[in-house]
Amino acid sequence: MELRDNFHRVIDYMRISITDRCNLRCIYCMPSGGVRPIEHREILSYEEIARVVKVAAALGVRKVRITGGEPLARKNVSFLVSSLKGIPGIEDMSLTTNGILLEKYARELSGAGLDRVNVSLDSLRPQRYREITRGGEIGFVMRGIEAAEDVGLTPVKMNMVPIRGMNDGEIEEFARMTLSTPRHVRFIEFMPIGARELWSDDRYISSDETRAVVEKIGALSPVRARKNGPAKYFRFAGAPGVVGFISALTHHFCADCNRLRLTADGKLRPCLFSETEIDLKPALRNSRSDAELERLLRLSIDVKPEGHNISRRADLESLKTMSKIGG
Ligand code: GTP
Ligand code: 5AD
Ligand code: SF4
Repeated sequence: MELRDNFHRVIDYMRISITDRCNLRCIYCMPSGGVRPIEHREILSYEEIARVVKVAAALGVRKVRITGGEPLARKNVSFLVSSLKGIPGIEDMSLTTNGILLEKYARELSGAGLDRVNVSLDSLRPQRYREITRGGEIGFVMRGIEAAEDVGLTPVKMNMVPIRGMNDGEIEEFARMTLSTPRHVRFIEFMPIGARELWSDDRYISSDETRAVVEKIGALSPVRARKNGPAKYFRFAGAPGVVGFISALTHHFCADCNRLRLTADGKLRPCLFSETEIDLKPALRNSRSDAELERLLRLSIDVKPEGHNISRRADLESLKTMSKIGG
């Protein structure tokens, strides 16, 4: 079974946010006062999530990514992983985390069937990391990445958002990591979403600019990857690791978009940048049939936009933070 949208894109990937809460407060993601959390009773249970995934898998979804807020801040994620991994059709299970609790859970998650992790890390300097995350300790993250590698949650992909005047001096150091480790270091363009206090046009660094800094180390050659994600991948000659660029604003990858999102409170969101959401909760909680869930899933694919027109001058007020959407 293959699920196609109105623009001939195959939709086979679902990103599932399991909580909007987070144990960090990254300055580019949240305002300093934090964001008002979704009430507990609105959050989908693991059983409800598994039901949605079962219906989605029957329609053609093959890959699932668990996101947050910080997914490991919710209890018993390994239980969810094993129940989703057991659903026929699900081939790839991954998780995006800030890494703080990864050392604690890596082994258990791998045992439950998780295939790999992506870790957000925006600085390699302890004090700067504390400032960016408003209090995080980088030691936990570094040990978490090592623990993930030890148990085979690989390749570990690291997400770094370069922001001018904050961590842009570390771009080269991050890229150099790929010369000696098999990690994927991905630079994500700062998006005007969530970070009202920090966003400004001169803070934004395009992927082209980041790439020019990275190429001072040496020439990059493209890495052939299945066209299934927003990142473009490259490698330095002979390097074990990979450098990636996610350019949401400058190089739209909407034409290859293969994904749907499910928010922690049960809304299908066909595009990161579109406010259109389809609420699955009434169907889930009023004992509606799987056929009704299937109808709603198809509906969300039907309204998936061809692309976004988000720009550097986006209206920040109207967009939810990444912690609410799941990145
Ligand atoms: P894999 O390639 O499967 O490892 O996953 P991924 O890159 O989709 O996952 P990850 O959670 O690490 O995403 C990294 C970042 O890419 C997200 O935080 C977003 O900033 C960006 N991103 C992911 N999906 C989309 C999308 O559909 N649209 C846009 N504009 N950005 C996205
Ligand atoms: N711009 C770009 N990336 C962001 N993330 C959170 N907020 C933003 C933003 N405003 C990223 C984090 C994490 C991913 C899930 O989302 O760095 O890696
Ligand atoms: Fe938490 Fe991720 Fe947002 Fe940082 S970027 S505050 S780790 S949800």
